[in-house]
Amino acid sequence: MAIRVWIALFICIFALLGLTSHASESESKEFVVTLDHSNFSDFVGQHKFIVVEFYAPWCGHCKKLAPEFEKAAQVLSQTDPPIFLAKVDANEEANKVLASEFEIRGFPTIKILRYGGSVVQDYKGPREADGIVSYVKKQSGPASAEIKSSEDADAVIDVNKINIVGVFPEFSGEKFENFTALAERLRADYDFGHTSDAKLLPRGDSSVSGPVVRLFKPFDELFIDFQEFDVDALAKLVEEATIPTVTVFNKDPNNHPFVIKFFNSPNAKAMLFVNFNSDLIDTFKSKYHEVAKQYKSSDISFLIGDVEASQGAFQYFGLKEDQVPLIIIQKNDGEKYLKPNVEPDHIASWVKEFKDGKVKPFKKSEPTPEVNSEPVKVVVADSFQDMVFNSGKNVLLEFYAPWCGHCKQLAPILDEVAASFENDADVMIAKIDATANDIPQGTFEVQGYPTLYFKSASGKISPYQGERTKEGFIDYIQKNRDKAAEQGPGKDEL
Ligand SMILES: *[C@@H]1O[C@H](CO)[C@@H](O)[C@H](O)[C@H]1NC(C)=O
Ligand SMILES: *[C@@H]1O[C@H](CO)[C@@H](O)[C@H](O)[C@H]1NC(C)=O
Repeated sequence: MAIRVWIALFICIFALLGLTSHASESESKEFVVTLDHSNFSDFVGQHKFIVVEFYAPWCGHCKKLAPEFEKAAQVLSQTDPPIFLAKVDANEEANKVLASEFEIRGFPTIKILRYGGSVVQDYKGPREADGIVSYVKKQSGPASAEIKSSEDADAVIDVNKINIVGVFPEFSGEKFENFTALAERLRADYDFGHTSDAKLLPRGDSSVSGPVVRLFKPFDELFIDFQEFDVDALAKLVEEATIPTVTVFNKDPNNHPFVIKFFNSPNAKAMLFVNFNSDLIDTFKSKYHEVAKQYKSSDISFLIGDVEASQGAFQYFGLKEDQVPLIIIQKNDGEKYLKPNVEPDHIASWVKEFKDGKVKPFKKSEPTPEVNSEPVKVVVADSFQDMVFNSGKNVLLEFYAPWCGHCKQLAPILDEVAASFENDADVMIAKIDATANDIPQGTFEVQGYPTLYFKSASGKISPYQGERTKEGFIDYIQKNRDKAAEQGPGKDEL
């Protein structure tokens, strides 16, 4: 969950970059086909290739996409044969079956359906009209384009992207078929081509006559040749080769797919945040690269981020500008490790200390308030142990977000509940801003706001699922409270 939020913060920035809408809203004919549960299968079943957007009426990114999608649909309706773009309101009760069939988890989600819907792929292209048109055109053509001239090569091989080209003396036989199968499988992610003349290709040995698969990439060694033709084995090699030693995060949308890969990896994630305009940037890059290379086959992945593009990340981790340059490592269990104000020469030794288990985890916390005299007490990550686990009190704790409307509605009710226990030293009503503080891992499940938990004096922790009324809370507390325990180090320390 945490990782998802985190990716969303990154992607948001990119999404905003690509979205400028200037389509007029007065067009009468809609080119995007509306589909719903009643006609989806029929319509999709009749088409070899169709692009479907799953949207929700309330989703802001969907609204921004709509005019671009419509414009693209208009252009694509004029191709021969026409290509259809369709949309499904996945928020509509009757369409929820479709949404779950296609595992829709966020909006908008765009899918490419091939062969009457028997093959489903994620749309991984741009979100403005021209970009949609060219990506969709490419996707609807052959999975691998033949390269016959250097113009063809220029058209297929984009130096900013991953491109995979097969060199074959003839376009038949099992190896060629396997290459084509790979292209079909991965076509939404990379551009594929094939040629019988390696001289048309940049980089690498131009005299090879194949069969060989050459992967071009915009980072590290820039190309790799494979002579593996088992589809699964080749797919695995491609997967490994397309993860940069150091993933770059800045405002360049070309890096977006690699950032997603980085966050989807099961590894611990090391992130160095530097100002890319700093004089030291080259030194940082080369030192960091050395370290990343050294750990290449370990369980750590490396990213370097430009501070300017990283506000979302800073907020998420609770980092401050005056800590830059900094490295933060997040492990899969959510634990984080921070080295603020790092110097290029300290990177290697600090990462080693981390590897050796010698670095203490870092916790995001607001400052502990100096006065805490309101009826509802303020808890922060740094005071959590003392106030919640070790206080020996019965604690009703609200996890809230500053922007959450339901939390605001709840606030006066909690004030009243707290006021009614004001003279009861064994009961505390408290709140923690869960967006600004790390929550102890594993104990509390906070998936939405507000989330309420009750911890009895003896340490029993349960989610509060009762009515959110003054009476409801008071009743619950009276029924579930224990007599206050001795104050001292609690047994629930985590
Ligand atoms: C599918 O059904 C919906 C609702 O009845 C309708 O608005 C839409 O135009 C239909 N689409 C097609 C392609 O028939
Ligand atoms: C082609 O792929 C199939 C299935 O992955 C595999 O069994 C076969 O050995 C491959 N052929 C070659 C020449 O590698």
